[in-house]
Amino acid sequence: MLTSIKTNSFEGNKSKELGMMYFRVAIILFGAQLLFGLVAAIQFLVPGFLFEVLDFSVARMVHINALVVWMLYAMIGSVYYMLPDETGVETVGVGLGKLGFWVLTVAVTIVVLVYIFVQVGAGTEASIWLIHEGREYIEAPRWADIGIVVVVLLFYWNVFASYMKGKQTGIMTVMVANLLALAGLYVTGMFFTDNISMDQFWWWWVIHLWVEATWEVFVGTLAAYALIRLIGAKREVVEMWLWIEVLMLFGSGILGMGHHYFWIGTPEYWWEIGALFSALEPVPLIAMFVHVLYDWGKEQGAHEAKGEAKGVITNGPAMAWIVTNAFGNFLGAGIWGFFHTLPQVNIYTHGSQFTAAHGHLAFFGAYATILIGMIYMGVQGAYGIERLRATFKSKMGIFLVTFGVMGMTIALTVAGYEQVLVERAELGATWNAFFVAQELPWYVQAQMWRAIMGVVTFVGFIYLVWDLLTIGAQAKKAQA
Ligand code: HEM
Ligand code: HEM
Ligand SMILES: [Fe+2]
Repeated sequence: MLTSIKTNSFEGNKSKELGMMYFRVAIILFGAQLLFGLVAAIQFLVPGFLFEVLDFSVARMVHINALVVWMLYAMIGSVYYMLPDETGVETVGVGLGKLGFWVLTVAVTIVVLVYIFVQVGAGTEASIWLIHEGREYIEAPRWADIGIVVVVLLFYWNVFASYMKGKQTGIMTVMVANLLALAGLYVTGMFFTDNISMDQFWWWWVIHLWVEATWEVFVGTLAAYALIRLIGAKREVVEMWLWIEVLMLFGSGILGMGHHYFWIGTPEYWWEIGALFSALEPVPLIAMFVHVLYDWGKEQGAHEAKGEAKGVITNGPAMAWIVTNAFGNFLGAGIWGFFHTLPQVNIYTHGSQFTAAHGHLAFFGAYATILIGMIYMGVQGAYGIERLRATFKSKMGIFLVTFGVMGMTIALTVAGYEQVLVERAELGATWNAFFVAQELPWYVQAQMWRAIMGVVTFVGFIYLVWDLLTIGAQAKKAQA
């Protein structure tokens, strides 16, 4: 099974090999993310679990930082993977890309080990440089921050130079412009201010402008590329949609950031700005959903009209994950986001388990899904398979992971609902009210269901990895 990890039929296409290197680390970090999430979930039920060995604060930190980092790995992998197809040339600096990969991977390993081994201590200037910065989701200490910037610059140079050298498709034009914004925003989360309002003001520039603007545009470009490769969608059609999506995503997502400025000490005009623009954010997500289904239906119909025996889809598992993405993005970000985005609602839900419910479904629906789809496309390419069919393991993987995350989301929504009713509305959001609400049966049972559904998610993940390791060799044998 292990030899299968190395197999590739890219015939010297180094860029795709590089993409696969990033994909492999992404999957390992995804597994780590889930394990640390399980530890944190158990700690909600048994607060003493692993106390002073692996504290909740650390388990949670590793859980959400691993999440961000695996997604960045999978994104870089996806770009290297699609680059030669889109530009028609080999990536310019494959050696540089490999160097970047190793520097990043060594840095990430050291950072995680430090998180785990140095759990308590004084918070000084030195800890910002050496241990972590204390900024949720992007906690890397400053030395690693600087390293990340250097690696990302190398990556960006590779993408930009290959783009200039080869064909400039609409998909790649959006990719190149969007990646510049995505990378540039990271820098806004790097400097230090004593003023916590100011710190949060800039921190949201990374987090919100990533997930609700630049990452969404990134997903738009991946979906466009994938639809062309998977179902033979017409380039003119997907690129037309892509430009509309870009316009709508940036049009609503940038000022939609106001929905994080309700309670951090920023001026009150952000209430109206945040309410209005963030309420518009689901619109492009509906458009993206419609677009995927529309293209799929259209190509399938045209295919059948020609009387072809085989279906239109050339990679079953990848397509399944991409359709799940279209739906999950709309549901997790659009619907669960809209629920709490108006200040009138957010005053009750802010920072409750409801937020966590949205966070899980949105990150999963919008990003995890499509990135897993890209990894399946990588496996198909690596084995040179014309049509990759879903296996029993592919189906168990997608079903259990999606069912598990959906189950966790519903459980957390119930917990959040209880917090709103008891802690916020009835008891007036006092310190004491917080603890009273945490002990009531609705809350405790909901946390129990979250843990159970977390285990379901993890079992699904095992099927997923097992499938990724075996599906290629199996399909190759069948093809021969
Ligand atoms: C894929 C896109 C999205 C992702 C990955 C995402 C993820 C998240 C996460 C993780 C948080 C918690 C942040 C924290 O730790 O404080 C959050 C907060 C929030 N999100 Fe989203 N989100 C997305 C899209 C949206 C959309 C489209 C809306 C509105 C329509 C929205 C509305 C909100 C609001 C109002 C909060 C603040 C909750 C609070 O006050 O506690 N999100 N989001
Ligand atoms: C084995 C499955 C998982 C379990 C048991 C789990 C558990 C947890 C726990 C206990 C927390 C801390 C919540 C808090 O501080 O109240 C958390 C936070 C978070 N998890 Fe997970 N998780 C799992 C999978 C995932 C997946 C698949 C994603 C996304 C792809 C994800 C994204 C997040 C995010 C964004 C947060 C921060 C939410 C916020 O602060 O609002 N988790 N998770
Ligand atoms: Fe936001």
